[in-house]
Amino acid sequence: MTVTELELLERISELKKHQDAVVIAHTYQLPEIQDAADFVGDSLELSMKVREVDAGTVVFCGVRFMAETAKIISPEKTVLMPDPGAGCPMADMITAEDVVRLKRNYPDGKVVCYVNSTADVKAESDICCTSSNAVRIVDSIPSKEQVIFIPDMNLGTYVKNKLSRDIILWPGHCSVHSSITAQEVLELKNKYPYAKVLAHPECRTAVLELSDYILSTSNMIRQVGKLDSKEYIILTEEGILYPLNKKYPDCMFHHPKRALCLNMKKTTIDLLTECLENRQHEITVPDNIRERAAKAVYNMLEI
Ligand code: 13P
Ligand code: SF4
Repeated sequence: MTVTELELLERISELKKHQDAVVIAHTYQLPEIQDAADFVGDSLELSMKVREVDAGTVVFCGVRFMAETAKIISPEKTVLMPDPGAGCPMADMITAEDVVRLKRNYPDGKVVCYVNSTADVKAESDICCTSSNAVRIVDSIPSKEQVIFIPDMNLGTYVKNKLSRDIILWPGHCSVHSSITAQEVLELKNKYPYAKVLAHPECRTAVLELSDYILSTSNMIRQVGKLDSKEYIILTEEGILYPLNKKYPDCMFHHPKRALCLNMKKTTIDLLTECLENRQHEITVPDNIRERAAKAVYNMLEI
């Protein structure tokens, strides 16, 4: 870490106290942002954390749907984002109007909405899910009911195969995870034959079929702690390598080259400092949308 980075980290720590703020960050954030954060985790953990913290202000270092979810479930808190332009392209692959149309086509269907979605889309959905609880959430819906899974086709296919259940899918996807090919995984496996393969369920089915474990980001970090292996192939966004290397310095982590989410890297240490200094880029969700979206998120948190 450079002297400037150290100075900025100290400044951030003072500002947090002064502004009654906590900084929370997704595991895909830049290393220095993870260092500056009070809490680092996956989408589900971050949603739960926002509810627990005492501070009046939460600075969310991640992408917009995550900050929106924080505001949806903790409307009394001020939620700030260092770069409000950090979005998730998959979340924009479906609109609220698309969901209304789906519900019209399948009037008895239950809409399960991956949290990687806009507040408007959540407001039209019955229940949310994250990558760590998607199977459990869909399984909680009685088998005689039709499930409509939005917007991630890969996660939906994973749930569908896992539960051997007929699910209506929406053709959304994460281009970062979809960029990982089965061919690339086979090459990595040939090169590192003793490595265990850990994949995020946003990856394509052909990639998941080559993996030993299919897990959310935080669960991948936990899983390494449970296994004896010293070598891993990690099939998700590269930001996770920082906490993995920090926590398990005696392990080797191999990673496909292109799995990089540029939106997750928009939050820099300078922007985080400015955000805290000026209390800027507040995330708001209109009440009529927020209340309906909150139902879908709370339905998930209750399961
Ligand atoms: P997690 O649920 O593992 O946090 O994943 C979120 C995400 O955006 C993956 O691309
Ligand atoms: Fe969205 Fe993919 Fe980036 Fe996750 S990695 S935030 S799903 S674009």
